[in-house]
Amino acid sequence: MEKEIGKLKKEKGAVILAHNYQLPEIQDMADFIGDSLELARKSAEIKCKLLVFCGVKFMAETAKILSPEKKVLLPEIDAGCPLADMAQPEKVMEFKEKHPDAWIVSYVNTSAEVKAVTDVCCTSANADRVVQNVPVKKVIFLPDKNLCGYVRKRVPEKEILCWDGYCYVHDRFTEYEVRKAREIHPDAEILVHPECRQEVQELADGIYSTSGILRRARETESRKLIIGTEEGMIYRLKKENPEKEFYSLGAPKICYNMKKITLKSLKTALAEEKYEITLPEEIMTKARLSLERMIEYI
Ligand code: 13P
Ligand code: SF4
Repeated sequence: MEKEIGKLKKEKGAVILAHNYQLPEIQDMADFIGDSLELARKSAEIKCKLLVFCGVKFMAETAKILSPEKKVLLPEIDAGCPLADMAQPEKVMEFKEKHPDAWIVSYVNTSAEVKAVTDVCCTSANADRVVQNVPVKKVIFLPDKNLCGYVRKRVPEKEILCWDGYCYVHDRFTEYEVRKAREIHPDAEILVHPECRQEVQELADGIYSTSGILRRARETESRKLIIGTEEGMIYRLKKENPEKEFYSLGAPKICYNMKKITLKSLKTALAEEKYEITLPEEIMTKARLSLERMIEYI
């Protein structure tokens, strides 16, 4: 399967991008693996006609918006993000009408339609810096309430209104799991993602995006790390730091949409050039402004 994928990739001049949560065998086939911000940047920079995005739909849409000239494929068309589905453009506009002086800051985990009504996007790697830089005092932050709480703490000078959304994967980490992990591994460093609940964030040693977790794991003196994010990260962490020990915080938490793409669907995607991401021109143009503003702000 791997050989066939390699052959098709070469024939078609395709580039494969994969998110850090993808299955190990998909990560091994990728030209580039990263977090949402790194993948968005890479998709815009890379020179190719065909981009196969192994991640979830909002990520492939972001790639298409930033490089509309490329053919962008998502091997499993129903690999969505339930967090992104928690904000609909009409509801966002209704909320904005009540707070006309506020700017809308949207996490990239949103649909292209929501990005189109957004002032500036952010990712978990730059959310605090983006909010710091908006030229108004009041911000509507969506859709993740936990990431919103993380930003509120770091940017106290802004008035931040949080949307009531959450990621079902990260929201499952509990305070009990952090306390128990400390008890069992008192010598370990505990790193969590900002989509985890506030009480989990407060008990952890560090809060980072997936690329931040990778960087911290590389740089820290600690030999043992406990990771509070989607379990797919453990594969890359172990591969890049074979001398260190990594554990999932509590029971491993899985994002089922991230695991939909298999070697079989990746091969079919390349062979049949499916599923192509297409978006209305008007939506893309508006959404691009909020993504480009993010890149300009950080
Ligand atoms: P990162 O940008 O940290 O990779 O997060 C993406 C995501 O979907 C987290 O659940
Ligand atoms: Fe969405 Fe959560 Fe899955 Fe990330 S881990 S893609 S936020 S459901």
